[in-house]
Amino acid sequence: MKGIILAAGYGTRFLPATKTVPKEMLPLIDKPSIAFIVEEFLASGITEILVISSRRKKSLEDYFDREVELEGIFRAEGAEEKLAKISPYKAKIYFVRQQEMLGTGHALLQAKSVINDEPFVVAYPDDLHFGSKPLTRQLIETYEQTGCSVLATIHDPPDLNRYGVVKLDPDGIHVADIVEKPPRGEEPSREASIGRYLYTSELFRLLEEGWDLHRGGEYYHTYALRQLMKARKVVFKRTEGERLDIGSPEGYLRAILRYAAGVESYREVIREAIEGDLLGPGLG
Ligand code: G1P
Repeated sequence: MKGIILAAGYGTRFLPATKTVPKEMLPLIDKPSIAFIVEEFLASGITEILVISSRRKKSLEDYFDREVELEGIFRAEGAEEKLAKISPYKAKIYFVRQQEMLGTGHALLQAKSVINDEPFVVAYPDDLHFGSKPLTRQLIETYEQTGCSVLATIHDPPDLNRYGVVKLDPDGIHVADIVEKPPRGEEPSREASIGRYLYTSELFRLLEEGWDLHRGGEYYHTYALRQLMKARKVVFKRTEGERLDIGSPEGYLRAILRYAAGVESYREVIREAIEGDLLGPGLG
């Protein structure tokens, strides 16, 4: 099974940094956020990864290449720890550029010729997952049990209305529909879809069908997904473990703190912020 990372977007919520730094390269302290997705794929047994990128995202390609010069220096120094930090992933990572920002459906169509006739996992790099079983693995196991496409969900987040909310089939297993950002009080369930999807390759046929019907503007994958849902070919997997949304600056800061909480010297700084005078009057 292959993995796809949708990394073509502008990342406008992180301007001005994202004028030149791809959003996916913004790090949690020292590791670019996209690396967490690649590690989740690898830990789930996926070693072939397609990144859908775009212009101004060149550093993504460089990041996954070897850093030969530094390797030479660290090897000469016998600096094994530093060497390990820059050694490339044991994965085949391909890149394709989405030439126009025409939405997720259009982005996924770029992957068709690479995927062939097998199921695949799609990750939005805004959603990071931490836990004993990688989220992608959870989706693969659900697919193995059901043969269906799988949506990852979280249960009853406080900002439910900012998500695609799933409507469940009466059998409690299949997903009957998805409502994007439903108004308060009109949510079809408390189950919110997050940025991990496992699709069967049938999705491509439906994406193409939808593309033919599409009349300009951004093209999302919703049409294709809905067709799969109508055919009762979609189930959901409620995420086990912790999901962090780094799509907004506030969520990104929260993720940095959660990540930092795992390292004692960083925890010390967080304590200083809570108990000491690190926050002060602010710099802005
Ligand atoms: C997208 C999806 C939505 C999902 C969300 C998860 O929305 O369209 O269904 O709930 O990601 O983060 P976006 O956040 O891009 O508006």
